[in-house]
Amino acid sequence: MSYETVDTDVLVIGAGGAGSRAAIEAANHNVHVTLLSKELLGKAHTCMAEGGYNAALANVDTADNWQVHFKDTVVGGAWINNQKLVEILVKEAGDRIFDLEEYGAVWDRTPEGKIMQRPFGKQTYRRTCYAADRTGHEMMQTLVEEVRRQNLDVLDEIFVTNYLMSGGRVAGAFAIDCKSGDFMVFRAKVVILASGGAGRLFKITTNAAQDTGDGYAAAYRIGAKLVDMEMIQFHPTGMVYPDSHKGQLVTEAVRGEGGLLFNTKKERLMQRYDPKLMELAGRDVVARSIATEILEGRGTPQGGVYLNVSHLPANVIEERLPSMLRQFLDVGVDIRKEPMQVAPTAHHFMGGVQINENAETNVAGMYAAGEVTGGIHGGNRLGGNALADTQVFGKRAGENAAEYAKKNPMLPIEKKQIDREMENAGEFLKKREGVRPVEIKNKLQSLIWDKVGIFRTGKEIQEAITEIERMKEHDLPRLCVMSNGTRYNREWIEALEIENLVTVAEMVAEAALMRTESRGAHYRRDFPKTDNQNWFTNIVIDQKDGVMSFEKVPVVATIMKPEGL
Ligand code: FUM
Repeated sequence: MSYETVDTDVLVIGAGGAGSRAAIEAANHNVHVTLLSKELLGKAHTCMAEGGYNAALANVDTADNWQVHFKDTVVGGAWINNQKLVEILVKEAGDRIFDLEEYGAVWDRTPEGKIMQRPFGKQTYRRTCYAADRTGHEMMQTLVEEVRRQNLDVLDEIFVTNYLMSGGRVAGAFAIDCKSGDFMVFRAKVVILASGGAGRLFKITTNAAQDTGDGYAAAYRIGAKLVDMEMIQFHPTGMVYPDSHKGQLVTEAVRGEGGLLFNTKKERLMQRYDPKLMELAGRDVVARSIATEILEGRGTPQGGVYLNVSHLPANVIEERLPSMLRQFLDVGVDIRKEPMQVAPTAHHFMGGVQINENAETNVAGMYAAGEVTGGIHGGNRLGGNALADTQVFGKRAGENAAEYAKKNPMLPIEKKQIDREMENAGEFLKKREGVRPVEIKNKLQSLIWDKVGIFRTGKEIQEAITEIERMKEHDLPRLCVMSNGTRYNREWIEALEIENLVTVAEMVAEAALMRTESRGAHYRRDFPKTDNQNWFTNIVIDQKDGVMSFEKVPVVATIMKPEGL
């Protein structure tokens, strides 16, 4: 077995909003950067933040400022956000949107020519900057152009199996070039992890096929700490039919522009759950409200509720929601005249690899940014804060990693590590009998959706954990693929992804079992109340003596605390 070696100063793993921004920034600091994309460059989940980017620019509501944005984010996050990170996010989001503008992003404008801002859920002011309903797409296009303009080294369709270590420091990564099946060893002075989330852990999700939590699992394997993994955001509005579109995002911008939610009794359903904020309540609340309506029999035969914009002038829909218009016309629904049907869909991991203000992880030589990180969004992310997060912490990761690379040498990587990686990855190509990845994946996705979903109980979570244990013992060792060809052998890559998904499933389920209260997106039917006395804490996960361990740690609350604490 052979492999190709690539040397670089800064290796960026993941080429979505955070990874691309980190790569651009690192290159600005005059170091050599190599950017790895699991998919084709530009095809990132960042595009699925359609409705906008939060920055307290006060272009529309002049009273807005970073302090209000801070408070909205922490209250919206059910108080367990790391407030040092939130402060950075809200203070720097504005400058980072101007960077994007300089790179060429085209935003919708106010009549005076400023960046336009719309209302989004649980935010005091109209703060969400946008490019119609394709904001993430506009950002990704812009970042890709900038990456190309700077002539950065980009490798598409590279699947990183593990990070390579040297003397307790990250020294590179082992990968498979999915196009050829060739093995690759990247040696780097520093690594930036920006590999996105794990929405594909769930049966119904907005996430693309590549979002399989590879970064969480690989970081865990080398001793990284992860935080808040029980906190999964279910976006309230995903498509419900046809099956091919199930879970596809229906942007919050629809409600921001005035979309109304109805049950089949023609009631504005949010009246029952949050009569003040109604459709613009927090995502956690709106998702649970819709799910409750459906569970209690007030949903449509297709399993959704109605989201209606037909009362809005047709030109508003055409200009501000053009992607939604097209997305529904494609399935025979003209949203200018008839309602959409929607239901919750897994969308975003609030939890992830713990970082500090410099986007540094606890593992020497590894920085991280974007959805793979945890702590910024607490128990419930505000819509629009993810795009801002990618840019603010992408830049910070890029600049700090570049400085690290200037001060630290490239380390030698022991051959036995590389041999082990080749052996592990190559093993699947030898087995023709056993369990195919798709079987385990389907089972796992249904299990986690059913038992560790929007509503959870200790009993259900325990059942999920028992099944995950069984999968680890019986299914994973029997994973096999049908072809030993290496070129574009999707099933081979899927086998490796499944191992990562099972690791992430264990983190999510165990942390969900441990948190015996309800907070933000984590709702325990058996513990329906928020318990600030016992649970104003984060749950930090890491590996101790080869065992996954969970620890309650105090929230970093530098500015505000919940009442009574
Ligand atoms: O609804 C949306 O457009 C999604 C935005 C986000 O997740 O930030």
